[in-house]
Amino acid sequence: MAPRDVQLPTGLKPPQGDQSNPPTEEKAPDVSPVNKHLLPEFSLANKVICVSGAARGLGLTQAEALLEAGAIVHALDRLEEPSAEFFRVQKRAEGELGTKLHYHRVDVRDTELLNKVIEEISDHEHRMDGLVAAAGIQQETPALEYSSKDANTMLEVNVTGVFMTAQAVAKQMIRYNTGGSIVLIASMSGTIANRGLICPAYNASKAAVIQLARNLAAEWGQYGIRVNTISPGYIVTDMVENLFIQFPERREEWPRHNMLGRLSMPREYRGAAVFLLSDASSFMTGSDLRMDGGHAAW
Ligand SMILES: NC(=O)c1ccc[n+]([C@@H]2O[C@H](COP(=O)([O-])OP(=O)(O)OC[C@H]3O[C@@H](n4cnc5c(N)ncnc54)[C@H](O)[C@@H]3O)[C@@H](O)[C@H]2O)c1
Repeated sequence: MAPRDVQLPTGLKPPQGDQSNPPTEEKAPDVSPVNKHLLPEFSLANKVICVSGAARGLGLTQAEALLEAGAIVHALDRLEEPSAEFFRVQKRAEGELGTKLHYHRVDVRDTELLNKVIEEISDHEHRMDGLVAAAGIQQETPALEYSSKDANTMLEVNVTGVFMTAQAVAKQMIRYNTGGSIVLIASMSGTIANRGLICPAYNASKAAVIQLARNLAAEWGQYGIRVNTISPGYIVTDMVENLFIQFPERREEWPRHNMLGRLSMPREYRGAAVFLLSDASSFMTGSDLRMDGGHAAW
């Protein structure tokens, strides 16, 4: 999108270059010892954190940020084999960051296995400190054509799956009396109906996730467990890139729907994950952190 023709106040320069395209070059953040203790409340050293949906996409990007902050991360995903990028992060965790990234194949709809795996993780680590529940699915179908089977699958993965993952992790936090922090990945689509993106069950599921977090926060605050949501705007992940191949006009159209005139990259949610999992957000619970370039603000 070309920058809009606006009168800038004297002394302000217009933005340089094409602002519609987000930066694409992944740059490794500075984890030099000098910076490590700059804000100690952001440290996740020795914390044990589960991340569902971390075989790829947003979950994996956030898992890498948690590892950089010092956490031991256990990825849970239904994929038989995680992505190639996962193995890069796993190698970096051990070789460069002095911690570990583990993989467990679990479908979050299988509550029995989910509980077994999460119990085994805490048996092994002797603690459980956090969760990012990023496993989720998306389906674009007009409301008049949506089958009950598809609607149920959407809610089973995005709502019940997230709920049961949080419950399994909370049980271990209570068992080890560690307290902890749980982050559920919702979406701006839990707050607004997306213009030109027809996904009624998905949006309903994300609204449910935002509400679920408030109720879990209310019930589990007594155990020192905080529960919050992150509501991202459009993120350029593989899923969205595939949509752009199918609907090329969206690449131009979607950036116009927010105040920054561009889409986001997964790495723009790294800081939020570390903030919410760490003591930096120690008095925050029952909240939704909406990070959508202002999409839902106008
Ligand atoms: N991409 C976006 O624009 C966007 C925007 C807002 C919110 N989100 C949310 O962010 C989260 C991550 O999305 P993404 O874009 O990285 O998608 P993605 O499809 O790349 O990643 C989702 C991961 O969840 C896993 N998963 C799906 N169903 C599962 C199940 N039943 N059990 C276990 N694992 C399962 C998948 O295997 C995959 O690895 C989702 O909750 C999504 O709704 C995405």
